[in-house]
Amino acid sequence: MLVSADRDRFVEIDPDKVSRGSFYTTDGAWLNAPVRAFLSQAFFTNTSALDPFAGDGHLLDLVRREFGVATFGLDIAGDKWARNDSLVSIPNASSSVIVTNPPYLANHSAKRKGVDGLVATYFDGSDYDNLYKIALDKCLAAADFVVAVIPETFLLSSFDKSRLALVSVIEGDLFADTEAPAVVACFGPDGLQQLGEFKLGNASVYNGDALIGSLHEIFELRTGRARSGIQIVFNDPNGRIGLRAVDSHDGVRRIEFIYGDFEYKRTRIKVSSRLLTYLDVPELSDAQIQELVVRANAHLEILRAKSSDLILAPFKGNDKKGNRRRRLDYALARQIINANLNA
Ligand SMILES: C[S@@+](CC[C@H](N)C(=O)[O-])C[C@H]1O[C@@H](n2cnc3c(N)ncnc32)[C@H](O)[C@@H]1O
Repeated sequence: MLVSADRDRFVEIDPDKVSRGSFYTTDGAWLNAPVRAFLSQAFFTNTSALDPFAGDGHLLDLVRREFGVATFGLDIAGDKWARNDSLVSIPNASSSVIVTNPPYLANHSAKRKGVDGLVATYFDGSDYDNLYKIALDKCLAAADFVVAVIPETFLLSSFDKSRLALVSVIEGDLFADTEAPAVVACFGPDGLQQLGEFKLGNASVYNGDALIGSLHEIFELRTGRARSGIQIVFNDPNGRIGLRAVDSHDGVRRIEFIYGDFEYKRTRIKVSSRLLTYLDVPELSDAQIQELVVRANAHLEILRAKSSDLILAPFKGNDKKGNRRRRLDYALARQIINANLNA
């Protein structure tokens, strides 16, 4: 057993479980109406399913029951499936539809948890910073259709989304033993622009069963009018604007711009503060700053509503009320301030 000191909390770690990302998808919530529609389309031409990271086989069991297709599994551990290192390559002679929940492990957390020796060969020479991206890359190389349960941070990542047809955010707890916020990402064949109702490269984004919009529409919300020439100073101990950049665990204090002091002590600010801070727009008067704070908060709430929160990164699972906590990155915070300087 390893022990990891993560923000002063000591957590026992099973190195094999962590390095293989063995957190099983015991809940069937991932197979919701939009994902089901996509899989029905995929099984028109390919009548079998493969999970190259099959674990206990929960995903395959559900797919076999619901679609009546043949299923195959591969795994690096256990004796239930043929052995294969699917982070290196995935054999798929029968062109099966891949349905999987690959291992998740960020390069930096592998180091922190002391398991980097077990996974270093995968990261060496790779541009990817998380095992699930390496896994997804191998899946996309091996199959025309891939349905993968992966971390929600995929949406904000630079991973190539040209084959992505559909994403559904799963808000409940999908896993038996971890709270990792997840999405189901559905990919179609390379070079295809339209697949039935699905547009590849401009995926439809759902929250569970509810359509939120297209990927482009949602992420365009992040690119607003920039007003250059006006200085905005972050992490300023004397800043007149407080910024709580994360939703609190209590579910009451949301991300907010605040005029003046809030629960964060100014003496604690560092250049690296990313969650709670103070900032300033030196050329504005106090009255203008107060107006700016009101407009910026209203703007933020509109962005949250229009994107169902997806333009904000998930932050550490759910709050006490069961809603997914979010973090506002400073690039977007700066853009919101900019857009409201003289609105
Ligand atoms: C997150 S679990 C998913 C299991 C299954 N898909 C599910 O959702 O129930 C990941 C699985 O991938 C396997 N695995 C980890 N690294 C692997 C590798 N390099 N090649 C093949 N399987 C691997 C682990 O043993 C584990 O069973």
